[in-house]
Amino acid sequence: MAGNFTIRFASEKDVESIHRIRVTAIRAKCSSHYKQEDINSWAARLQKEDFLPEINACEITVAEHVEDGKILGFGHLITSPVKECEQKTLMIKGLFVDSHCGVKGVGSALMKEIEQRARDKEEADILIVEAALNAVEFYKKCGFTFLQLTTHRISEQVCLECHKMIKKL
Ligand SMILES: CC(C)(COP(=O)(O)OP(=O)(O)OC[C@H]1O[C@@H](n2cnc3c(N)ncnc32)[C@H](O)[C@@H]1OP(=O)(O)O)[C@@H](O)C(=O)NCCC(=O)NCCS
Repeated sequence: MAGNFTIRFASEKDVESIHRIRVTAIRAKCSSHYKQEDINSWAARLQKEDFLPEINACEITVAEHVEDGKILGFGHLITSPVKECEQKTLMIKGLFVDSHCGVKGVGSALMKEIEQRARDKEEADILIVEAALNAVEFYKKCGFTFLQLTTHRISEQVCLECHKMIKKL
């Protein structure tokens, strides 16, 4: 598939694609670093309706293929600042690309848009992300650096090890 795509805010009609991409990306890419039972809990944790408030708050950005309108990936920037930091700090809650889309550069294009929005519209100074272990190299390429080891709680039983990473905007 040719690599022409545009980046825009998600709308409610994208909710099924967003949900499907999240589940398939977790299963395809994250299973290299986490146990299968943890992957199952993680993938099953959100239902598609859970994305609607975030879509309506304009927190989710999607990459859309220009020819067939297919959604190739999405990123979620939480627009309420992280409280414990002095400088305005926003968090990326998730970034997921369709592992079968056959298009390179979707993740970095989404990240570029999220960064630009965080800096120019939200006037943020810092971005942080709790990076899944399989995605650490991707975030390094995007200019993030390691801050600390952390965990991402999925359920009472499941806690995923992550790298908290930071980028000054
Ligand atoms: C991580 C993810 C969003 C990257 O998206 P992508 O569209 O594959 O990334 P890009 O094609 O824009 O890659 C940008 C650069 O990062 C590199 N890269 C991407 N994923 C990588 C990985 N897992 N390991 C090493 N390098 C990686 C690419 O090779 C590319 O490098 P280059 O600029 O030198 O060519 C995608 O693989 C994904 O959805 N993963 C599963 C879900 C996930 O873990 N999300 C993060 C949760 S915190």
